[in-house]
Amino acid sequence: MRRTYRTLYRLGIVPWDQPGAPAPLVDLLEGPAALPPAQALDLGCGTGRQAHYLAAHGWSVTAVDYTPEAITAARRDHAHGDVVWRVADVTEPGAVDPDGRLAGATSLLLDNGCLHGVPVGRRTGWAATVSTLAAPGAVLLVRAEQHRRRAIGPRGIDESEITALLAHRWRPLVTVEPTWFSYALLPATPLPSQDTVGDPTAPAVEPADRGDPGDLVDPGEMEG
Ligand SMILES: C[S@@+](CC[C@H](N)C(=O)[O-])C[C@H]1O[C@@H](n2cnc3c(N)ncnc32)[C@H](O)[C@@H]1O
Repeated sequence: MRRTYRTLYRLGIVPWDQPGAPAPLVDLLEGPAALPPAQALDLGCGTGRQAHYLAAHGWSVTAVDYTPEAITAARRDHAHGDVVWRVADVTEPGAVDPDGRLAGATSLLLDNGCLHGVPVGRRTGWAATVSTLAAPGAVLLVRAEQHRRRAIGPRGIDESEITALLAHRWRPLVTVEPTWFSYALLPATPLPSQDTVGDPTAPAVEPADRGDPGDLVDPGEMEG
């Protein structure tokens, strides 16, 4: 996929690169329950239109893409605004946030069309990135096409697979539009202290909203 993206950007074949911000993102920034500007991260930012939109609304933005041609275009087209542009693979938390500045401090994470093309075996890396960098109460907004078996194009991912990837750490929010999914970071679940482990009189510690283990995705089943 990486080589394909490089070729497409070089040839200027970028059908996803449309003017205007997508409605679910506009709603988060300008709707009745608009989030206050803080730190945002755009994963697979392409030529940076949405990162630029976030910055124009007062957000501090880090925008990453592993295709150098996309980041070069983003830097050229959006020279102004509070955006850090970075060539990095979203499945590597340390590459996305090399100085640790974003860790636990990112209030809004956007993935518009990146995750659904990430190889299945690397998707837990994507989940590690979003969970490591998210601030308490962070919102994650994902646009992803469904899983499909096609010779070309992104592999796709189903909503249940995204939810399974994010299990234990994120709570699904109301789905705003088909192909758009949003999640809120759950508060960290405290581990039982040594004093209460094995103490039958201690109150049970219920993991918060763990979901059904049966939902977990077997990567082997998803290949092919
Ligand atoms: C369909 S485009 C969407 C671009 C942008 N989000 C937009 O809406 O215009 C997907 C982007 O994700 C990038 N991408 C795909 N896999 C990636 C990965 N593992 N790490 C970083 N970027 C990735 C591609 O280079 C491409 O720019």
